[in-house]
Amino acid sequence: MAEKEGLFEIEKWVSERQLPKGKRRKKDYRDRKTEQYVFDIPTLETLYKFSKKGIIKALGGPVSQGKESVIFHAIGGEDEELAIKMYKINTAHFNAMIDYISGDPRFEPLRKDRRSVIYTWAQKEYKNLKRATEAGVRVPRPIACDKNVLIMEFIGKEGIAAPRLHDLPADMLKADVELEELFLRLISAIKTLYEKGMLVHADLSEFNIVMKGYVERELQTRAPAGAEIALEPVLIDMGQSLLVSHPHAERYLKRDVQNLTVFFRKHGLAYSEEEVMQMIQGAERAAESSQRAYRGLGKG
Ligand SMILES: Nc1ncnc2c1ncn2[C@@H]1O[C@H](COP(=O)(O)OP(=O)(O)O)[C@@H](O)[C@H]1O
Ligand SMILES: [Mg+2]
Repeated sequence: MAEKEGLFEIEKWVSERQLPKGKRRKKDYRDRKTEQYVFDIPTLETLYKFSKKGIIKALGGPVSQGKESVIFHAIGGEDEELAIKMYKINTAHFNAMIDYISGDPRFEPLRKDRRSVIYTWAQKEYKNLKRATEAGVRVPRPIACDKNVLIMEFIGKEGIAAPRLHDLPADMLKADVELEELFLRLISAIKTLYEKGMLVHADLSEFNIVMKGYVERELQTRAPAGAEIALEPVLIDMGQSLLVSHPHAERYLKRDVQNLTVFFRKHGLAYSEEEVMQMIQGAERAAESSQRAYRGLGKG
């Protein structure tokens, strides 16, 4: 019965593109333009498979539409909110993906036809999210992955996705203790990911950090007041994340650190890249790494 319901909900969504009233995603401050999106047949089949297994019960609206992927809100078998990331088979990033995957022993030998590369990329993000979770770094909890479809925990509430660090209102980002605390939490997450997860995010910036608790707070202000809900930064988008053993890992680590120090400097927090690299790697290692990253860049 549950299976039938699941299928029905998805079929209904495919024809109507919407959840039943009351479950629809509300428009919010984060609304970005999302084009109409039509699933290709293999993607639909994969969604049906997940639905039959009871992993997805209903499919909600689009959360984001990027060049590589689209993300949808969904409801899982236990009524939990899910994010479904579907990688586009026709992504223009195809060649760049091969560069990021080669050199990773987890995915050797790599088949280089388009479909295989995209499927491997989805698996790579899934495995990276798993590694990060196991290391104790806050990322969306990965739930399942098949072909180009990755299912994970939804960060946000009632279909409203958590804002990205980039989207936070300016008054929340004035330099005060809270801002420094947020920065240090992020650096500590990079360090844990590096040391325990043996991973470098490799695309970390204010666009790939979302703030859990923000939407929950907004929804709470409409209800009787309770204790203030804490804000928690969550790292997302780990398809390109690399093992620390990857030849370009150090270079990407530096770039991640640079992106964050530049962002926080704009908001009045003055940490230098060098001191942050030392916080992550220790003084000696950071100096070596700086030389290696320099040499790596030379090689292109
Ligand atoms: N698990 C998630 N929960 C809620 N929103 C998400 C989740 N994953 C991604 N998003 C939203 O979708 C956007 C795009 O996702 P992302 O993984 O960064 O893909 P890309 O940048 O490659 O398009 C994010 O900026 C974020 O707003
Ligand atoms: Mg992103």
